[in-house]
Amino acid sequence: MLSAIKLTLMLFLSGFIACYGSNPNYDSIHKLLLVSFDGFRADYLKNYRLPHLQEFIEDGVLVEHLINAFITKTFPNHYSIVTGLYEESHGIVANEMYDEDTKKKFSQFNDADPFWWNEATPIWVTNQQQENRRSAAAMWPGTDVKINNTTPHFFMKYNYSVTFEERMGNVTMWLNNSQPPVTFATLYWEEPDASGHKYGPDDKENMRKVLEQVDNHIGSLMDKLKALGLWESINVIITSDHGMAQCFPKRLIKLDDCIGRGNYTLIDTSPVAAVLPRSNKTYVYNLLKNCSTSMKVYLKEEIPDRFHYRHNKRIQPIILVADEGWTIVQNETLKKLGAHGYDNALPSMHPFLAAHGPAFHKGYKQDTINTVDIYPMMCHILGLKPQPNNGTFTNTKCLLADQWCVNLPEAIGIVVGVLMVLTTLTCLIIITKNRMSSPRPFSRLQLQDDDDPLIG
Ligand SMILES: *[C@@H]1O[C@H](CO)[C@@H](O)[C@H](O)[C@H]1NC(C)=O
Ligand SMILES: *[C@@H]1O[C@H](CO)[C@@H](O)[C@H](O)[C@H]1NC(C)=O
Ligand SMILES: *[C@@H]1O[C@H](CO)[C@@H](O)[C@H](O)[C@H]1NC(C)=O
Ligand SMILES: *[C@@H]1O[C@H](CO)[C@@H](O)[C@H](O)[C@H]1NC(C)=O
Ligand SMILES: *[C@@H]1O[C@H](CO)[C@@H](O)[C@H](O)[C@H]1NC(C)=O
Ligand SMILES: *[C@@H]1O[C@H](CO)[C@@H](O)[C@H](O)[C@H]1NC(C)=O
Ligand SMILES: *[C@@H]1O[C@H](CO)[C@@H](O)[C@H](O)[C@H]1NC(C)=O
Ligand SMILES: *[C@@H]1O[C@H](CO)[C@@H](O)[C@H](O)[C@H]1NC(C)=O
Ligand SMILES: *[C@@H]1O[C@H](CO)[C@@H](O)[C@H](O)[C@H]1NC(C)=O
Ligand SMILES: [Zn+2]
Repeated sequence: MLSAIKLTLMLFLSGFIACYGSNPNYDSIHKLLLVSFDGFRADYLKNYRLPHLQEFIEDGVLVEHLINAFITKTFPNHYSIVTGLYEESHGIVANEMYDEDTKKKFSQFNDADPFWWNEATPIWVTNQQQENRRSAAAMWPGTDVKINNTTPHFFMKYNYSVTFEERMGNVTMWLNNSQPPVTFATLYWEEPDASGHKYGPDDKENMRKVLEQVDNHIGSLMDKLKALGLWESINVIITSDHGMAQCFPKRLIKLDDCIGRGNYTLIDTSPVAAVLPRSNKTYVYNLLKNCSTSMKVYLKEEIPDRFHYRHNKRIQPIILVADEGWTIVQNETLKKLGAHGYDNALPSMHPFLAAHGPAFHKGYKQDTINTVDIYPMMCHILGLKPQPNNGTFTNTKCLLADQWCVNLPEAIGIVVGVLMVLTTLTCLIIITKNRMSSPRPFSRLQLQDDDDPLIG
């Protein structure tokens, strides 16, 4: 009886491992293309028709929403994706930064000083420090900067006027052609973020138009990779940095109504404002604290742990976090109908992740992972030893074809299955024993009695 249990379990497990552990398509060179469509809010996938993206997902995996890093802005989250670090640990803590010691300033248009980037090492650098491998970048924050004295072997200077077709054409050419091979590449596109800011995510008509264009870009990327014969062997991740929230002209927090401008310097603006007090910090804090019920005011030391946004000198002494849909200004009127940057617990701030290729399962959906979990997963796919990071590899195991992953419904299924097989076996054994060890009179009659309930 015991050996029967053992045998059944072994059969089950070996079948299970055979199904989930093997991956016949896995290439010796694992190429990975990481694509970001800026500001692609998770629920756009549910609310708009995106046939090419759906086709990509059907044959790959989908993580319905990513818990991204606070603050939910572009530069910080793009750097979290490629380093696996929270913002306080990779040092790109905002789109606008100021360093008190060196008096240096950082902005989206003045981002080329390696000083800002060197607190972390992104995956494209680590990838190139392995023998015989190159990285390529068709834009991505930081890819045109020498980080640890290295840029991707192929890269483009950031220029938003370069069309998607040109970025895609160049990056796929680089992926196809070079010797030694390009094993890691990035591709970045500014939409649907730009339209999300301009129209606001509630403008269904305009968002439908831009998302149709984004979806067509995904279609042409798939076509291009197919035409080059790369589609079956390359791993492609399509993801984003953050979502978008609707803003309202009436939901303005005017700092000028609460505090004179001479008291502070505004380093970064809405919806997470970074405030550098000019004189008495407590005085400035008290005035701001009493300014609006629609924003939180934190001394740096008070910033909640869950934001992982405290331990870096580039985080200013006071930060203001507007509630969803609210805008912090000094005295201006509302300029953008959509914004992001808010609390990373808000669903409207979450992007998604989809992936396709030999490293990934086909047709698998998962509710969530963290943005910082993407990095250890990418290192695994590329066979790189990850730098110290804040991601958790096991969170992504179920997405990966070469990992053994049991999720809860599956586990319950297996247990029930094993129990059913064991019960059946036990019954059979008992019946067989009864049949063989019963040379009694009227045995036939008895057996018929026993059989009846089984037949019924
Ligand atoms: C920086 O680059 C050097 C070689 O250029 C390498 O030895 C070192 O490991 C790199 N540091 C990090 C943190 O990647
Ligand atoms: C794309 O590649 C072509 C051909 O190599 C080159 O002429 C062009 O400058 C590249 N585009 C960008 C934006 O780097
Ligand atoms: C940016 O790209 C556009 C379109 O290719 C080009 O006309 C322009 O000169 C580029 N700007 C810079 C600064 O390279
Ligand atoms: C892509 O690479 C393959 C194999 O090296 C080569 O045969 C093909 O011509 C390349 N395609 C392009 C468009 O460069
Ligand atoms: C600081 O703010 C207070 C309150 O608005 C104002 O009365 C004062 O003039 C400001 N101080 C400076 C130096 O701007
Ligand atoms: C700073 O402001 C607080 C509150 O307004 C006040 O109690 C304190 O004395 C001030 N400290 C200095 C050094 O001016
Ligand atoms: C806080 O604001 C209220 C009304 O908005 C005002 O009455 C009160 O004096 C303010 N307190 C401080 C400390 O500024
Ligand atoms: C906003 O403040 C600036 C500087 O104090 C001033 O020049 C401007 O007129 C103000 N604008 C409005 C709309 O109040
Ligand atoms: C994130 O990772 C870095 C590098 O290992 C580490 O220094 C930091 O303490 C981590 N942060 C958290 C919140 O664990
Ligand atoms: Zn963005």
